[in-house]
Amino acid sequence: MLYIFHLLSHLLYSLFSLQCPRSPTTPPSYPLAVRNPYLSAWLPGDRVQHLPSASPQFWTGQELTWSVIVRVDGQAYSLMGVDEHGDVQLPAAVVQHADFTATQSTFRLSTGRLSWTLAFLSPVSPANHLRQSLPFSYLTVTVHGSANEIQIYTDIDGRWTGRAGDSDRALHYNDRDALAVYSLFLKNRDNLTYAEDSDMALWGEAVLAARSSAGSTVSFASGPVTAVRTQFVAGGRLTDTDLPWAGDEGVVGLAHDLGAVKGSRSVTFAVGYVREKAINYLGEAYTGYYRARYPSTAEAVAFFLDDYDEARSEAKRLDEQLARKATAAAGSKYAEILALSTRQAYGGIDLTIPEATRDTNDVLAFIKELSSDGNINTVDVIMPAFPIYYVLDPEYIRLLLEPVLRYLAAGRWRHPYVIHDLGAHYPNATGHDDQNAEPMPVEESGNLLILVLAHARATGDPHWAWQYTDLLRRYADYLVANGLNIPFQLSSNDAAGPLANETNLAIKAAVGLRAFGTLFGEEKYSRIASQYARSLFDHGLATDPSHSHFVLQYPHKPASWKIPYNLYPDVLLGLHTFPPDAYRMTRDFFSSSSSSSSSSSSSSAVRGPYGVPLDHRQDWAKSDWNMWLAATFGPGDAQTQFVDDLWSFMTNGKHSWPFSDRYLARGRRAGLPVLCRARPTVGGHFAILAWDGPGSLSHKEL
Ligand SMILES: *[C@@H]1O[C@H](CO)[C@@H](O)[C@H](O)[C@H]1NC(C)=O
Ligand SMILES: *[C@@H]1O[C@H](CO)[C@@H](O)[C@H](O)[C@H]1NC(C)=O
Ligand SMILES: *[C@@H]1O[C@H](CO)[C@@H](O)[C@H](O)[C@H]1NC(C)=O
Repeated sequence: MLYIFHLLSHLLYSLFSLQCPRSPTTPPSYPLAVRNPYLSAWLPGDRVQHLPSASPQFWTGQELTWSVIVRVDGQAYSLMGVDEHGDVQLPAAVVQHADFTATQSTFRLSTGRLSWTLAFLSPVSPANHLRQSLPFSYLTVTVHGSANEIQIYTDIDGRWTGRAGDSDRALHYNDRDALAVYSLFLKNRDNLTYAEDSDMALWGEAVLAARSSAGSTVSFASGPVTAVRTQFVAGGRLTDTDLPWAGDEGVVGLAHDLGAVKGSRSVTFAVGYVREKAINYLGEAYTGYYRARYPSTAEAVAFFLDDYDEARSEAKRLDEQLARKATAAAGSKYAEILALSTRQAYGGIDLTIPEATRDTNDVLAFIKELSSDGNINTVDVIMPAFPIYYVLDPEYIRLLLEPVLRYLAAGRWRHPYVIHDLGAHYPNATGHDDQNAEPMPVEESGNLLILVLAHARATGDPHWAWQYTDLLRRYADYLVANGLNIPFQLSSNDAAGPLANETNLAIKAAVGLRAFGTLFGEEKYSRIASQYARSLFDHGLATDPSHSHFVLQYPHKPASWKIPYNLYPDVLLGLHTFPPDAYRMTRDFFSSSSSSSSSSSSSSAVRGPYGVPLDHRQDWAKSDWNMWLAATFGPGDAQTQFVDDLWSFMTNGKHSWPFSDRYLARGRRAGLPVLCRARPTVGGHFAILAWDGPGSLSHKEL
């Protein structure tokens, strides 16, 4: 069945691709509405053939109701999300084609002689803070063909507000200036500010909105799903009434009545999740940037709907440029990897201003460590993701690090090394005054120094970094003292456990020192960096005796290895801490021993069926670090091999989570993801594209 579907979609692909480039791959999960950690709705790839009855999921896997029903000359059809065993039984549309770009997932279906497109657009517009910060996503339903009477309906249920099973929900309907807005929220949310249930926000409200126009009046209804949908199916419009709420069976629905259609017509709905108090930054509420201009939800969603044409044309330019540049950089498989990574990378971020002042000169960005523990502004999440910021808008490095630097500069973190994160759980960026953040001393100190240089280089403006000179020098001094003879500690890959003298950390320390020395013109640090690099590489402290590869750990562990991905910023930022021979050695080691057979028991088999694992002890690989390493190699077979392996994982049809950055590269269960899903660290996949230069896909370039 799946195979036939693939054949069909390939066939259709070849037809469509004559006009515009399309991606024929089935991803593990399609982003539908993915804008921030609490607006993150996906359609698992294995459900797409059954789209008319398939429900989307929140990124963590909770089921959500989001349906689309259409009516053609009195006959209703389900296009999405109508349970085929439910009370409302409808003929299902036939799924014809599915594809995705960086900003949009599109499904084409047919009902008799009409065809339909469902386009789910989540804008990615980092430099346009207003557009980027709006916590809404577009669903545009287009009918192609002619009929005397067309009506289009969509609904969402109470589970969008978290706490499935809790019947205590309230709703608010607002209808002014032809704008229909439903807000849906937990009744006793007042004492739930900043609280989550299984990663869903319990405060704030889910929003469904649409606008009436000259050609169509929007009708509305809420209540038990069967009653609301039956109104539409029977009469083509809703009764503009709210029936008593029905717990998990309750939906809010909106319907457009287009009347006669000739050719093609579209209607657009907005779906969102609004938190007025978005983030708790050190006790102060931060709200979405957009609230400076549009302080109420109704105003914000009205602007969002009005902005559709411009948002869509910007999205189209981004999709096309990204596809073109990524293909030129590393082929069409690489372009598909980046297309699937883009919304997810920005979907981990909120862009905010202080709620009290709404001062747009005080913009801060917050990022959630999705899946692993929910930490906020984790420095070693910003680090792997930074290539996407470097490419799309390097200011995000500053926006994400500024909240951390303010906290460090205030002296509330007393350790001599950089803090791991700004709070144990999103959205509480309340720091760790108890001094108990997860300790990754060399990791985070190196990360901060490198990121600060990356920002200065990419923007051409070192002034932000210069404000923190003394603070940063303290961390450089820490690396001088602890960067070569490294005490037992964790690195970013905490699942692999702590080690002393981990080579990849030592590389990070040397590169970090060099970054500091370069940025501040303090020769001493650059000299020490070179000295450390000479010990590690030239003198062989961190290689095997024959200089074939970097070891996992030194001294005296010649058979061990780990991918030394921390070389990447050394090359990207032109720091030359390590000589080209170090990169060449690494490239040769990771491309020489290929084991495409499944018997990967030989210890020399570095590459499994889905690529190279993190180190010799693991079966699992990290997609972000693998792309960093591939970018370090430069163009060529080794890089292509890494890209092919990640693409094979992404498209193997064995899993259906939002893009996982951690998966088994070898072993019995090769090709399956492990723990991590929907993480913004997929921004690291842009490492190869970053070679095009900073801001190469920025607003200015589109
Ligand atoms: C929140 O408020 C409701 C009443 O509005 C109460 O039933 C509930 O116990 C409160 N929860 C907490 C955690 O205080
Ligand atoms: C954030 O902190 C508040 C207390 O200020 C707490 O009620 C809430 O549960 C916390 N949120 C998370 C996700 O831990
Ligand atoms: C770490 O490496 C240094 C050599 O640079 C060595 O002196 C030290 O004993 C090593 N530490 C451990 C725990 O092996």
